[in-house]
Amino acid sequence: MKKLNIMTFAMAAALAAVAAAPENGKLWYDTDGHVINAHGGGVLAHEGTYYLYGEHKVYGEAGNKAHVGVHMYSSKDLCSWKDEGVVLAVEETPGSRIEDGCIIERPKILFCEKTGKFVMFFHLELKGQGYRAAHTGIAVADAATGPYKFLRSMRPNAGQWPADLSDKERTAETMRKFIEIPQWWGGVAKQWGSHFAGGQMSRDMTLFKDDDGTAYHVFASEDNSTVHVAELTKDYLDYSGRWWRMAESQWTEAPAVCKKDGWYYLIGSGCSGWKPNMARCYRARSMQGPWEFLGNPCRGVNELNGVGPEKTWGGQSNFILKVSDALYLAMFDIWKPKNQIDSRLMWFPMEFTPDGTVSIRWCAAFDRCKR
Ligand code: DGJ
Repeated sequence: MKKLNIMTFAMAAALAAVAAAPENGKLWYDTDGHVINAHGGGVLAHEGTYYLYGEHKVYGEAGNKAHVGVHMYSSKDLCSWKDEGVVLAVEETPGSRIEDGCIIERPKILFCEKTGKFVMFFHLELKGQGYRAAHTGIAVADAATGPYKFLRSMRPNAGQWPADLSDKERTAETMRKFIEIPQWWGGVAKQWGSHFAGGQMSRDMTLFKDDDGTAYHVFASEDNSTVHVAELTKDYLDYSGRWWRMAESQWTEAPAVCKKDGWYYLIGSGCSGWKPNMARCYRARSMQGPWEFLGNPCRGVNELNGVGPEKTWGGQSNFILKVSDALYLAMFDIWKPKNQIDSRLMWFPMEFTPDGTVSIRWCAAFDRCKR
């Protein structure tokens, strides 16, 4: 491993085990020499193997819709990736919720110890409806590599109040205060009160499993203006009904969550379609909040395109993988909406300070991060 000069001894030791990481922003190849096609997804670590999965993109603007499904790769070292194929496939049946031509974004997978099943959540938009459906899709498998069986899709938490409202506050009057909120650009964002009966809007998302096995679905809701943190049932196949709002009216997309030394961190982006914007970071002592705004964690300039931290090196946050206590990898996508199959991946080690702040420094590959 070359040019290693990283901030902590523990992280250096963790990275010393890494073979030769793929280069950020360049094409990544699998062990057959094919370009890795897994975007907006994540990495599941399970029994000594890493599983990289994400949206399989096709050529041209058609790649903005799902025509294949979710593609997966496996690795022992996070560097060399074996193709495991399409693990959740779109369906040909007209009217299927995951019909070819729908939108499947940001799939995330958790292993449920309680049931022994692998559970996938993803942002689903129904075919022909643009981004109006704002659904969560849920699929399940017996093995990490699938096949994943699509179970259902919905808007989460229909009829459920935000968990931090007391019984006394659960009134029509409270709800009226959360119908819609005017925005600086002249429009309005429809808030949770407008979606109480039919379920909350759910777009960009991640899954997070806490140390005690409790899992959360974290998603952009309320027209993307506010993030919801929704607890899942013990089998991860449904919502427990307890949910909280965070980053209210801050238009946060692309949430990625991790926990380190008693702090929960959420890294996200602003809301500007496929165009890059500045990342933001929050931290909390509990998934229920309150969340404290920490600003932009990104540092340095992308050596390939000259884009700095004000535009997240040309990318957008996506997922955080805890490799070990010493090594957390923050994962980003560089989107190419005119030809999404050419979208690129970027993975960086996260740097945590003893007082609980975070920075993510540009480096050519995650094993070559310079101070
Ligand atoms: C930004 C989101 O982060 C992406 O996942 C995608 O939904 C685009 N918006 C669509 O414009």
